Amino acid sequence: MTKDIIILVLFLVVLILTYLFNKKKIKNFFYKSKIKKINITELDQIFEEKFISENLKGPKEETIIKSFIISPHNKIVGMTSDYEAWIISVLSKKSDNIFEFGTCSGKTTYLMALNSNKDAKITSLTLGPEQLKNLNKENTDNKISFRNLINESIYEKFLFSGTDAENKINIIFEDSVNFDESKYINKFDLIFIDGGHTYSVVKNDTEKSFKMINKNGIILWHDYVPGKQSSKNVVNYLNEISKEKNILNIRNTSLCVFRNSD
Ligand SMILES: C[S@@+](CC[C@H](N)C(=O)[O-])C[C@H]1O[C@@H](n2cnc3c(N)ncnc32)[C@H](O)[C@@H]1O
Repeated sequence: MTKDIIILVLFLVVLILTYLFNKKKIKNFFYKSKIKKINITELDQIFEEKFISENLKGPKEETIIKSFIISPHNKIVGMTSDYEAWIISVLSKKSDNIFEFGTCSGKTTYLMALNSNKDAKITSLTLGPEQLKNLNKENTDNKISFRNLINESIYEKFLFSGTDAENKINIIFEDSVNFDESKYINKFDLIFIDGGHTYSVVKNDTEKSFKMINKNGIILWHDYVPGKQSSKNVVNYLNEISKEKNILNIRNTSLCVFRNSD
């Protein structure tokens, strides 16, 4: 009897350890992306690598960006990966009018300003502590996403504050649900949707973005991660609208993309 119990406990330990070490693979197996994946080069030829030698390819001149590193000691919340930040920076080089939902620390806003041309304008909409007072959680909104939304709305100064890049940036402190998009119709070359990850907010930001994007403009969404709790509403919403809109997921990233051709 005792022997049976020991075997059972060992079996459970092995099972738990296997799960912990392969968590990502197991999640990927159960939570398949419903959105078609593309290689970054299919989005824009600018991302094609330069042939250097038979066993080496490297970045083309146009994809070399200005960037910075946030040290691991600096516990900034809600950031993009380096690869995602590079993609956003490269696309910013080709964009004169940029809009962002969700400034947070201002990492992506700063990169957009550093890499776009000198006359480019970046508008970034966000919540600060002041705007949290009148916020509503809808029934469709994921609890974890709502909690994260509050935890990420802590900044009133940003990584670019006090730098030259700040001259290109306009920050709007407002709940995007109340934001009037009517003066920005067809205006933007690039829109980055990385605001609230609740269903009601991501739906609101997306519907406004489809009106604000210009012909040939690009909309990017952050945090399309099937199986991740805090991304649940982003994933559900994008899966739903991808039946009607040509939304694609950039391989090896949590970025989804739509290129306007209307
Ligand atoms: C994930 S962070 C953005 C990260 C940033 N783009 C970066 O990569 O550095 C989310 C931001 O969205 C903002 N946000 C959340 N809900 C919002 C809403 N309803 N209206 C405006 N901003 C919102 C939060 O205040 C927070 O600054």
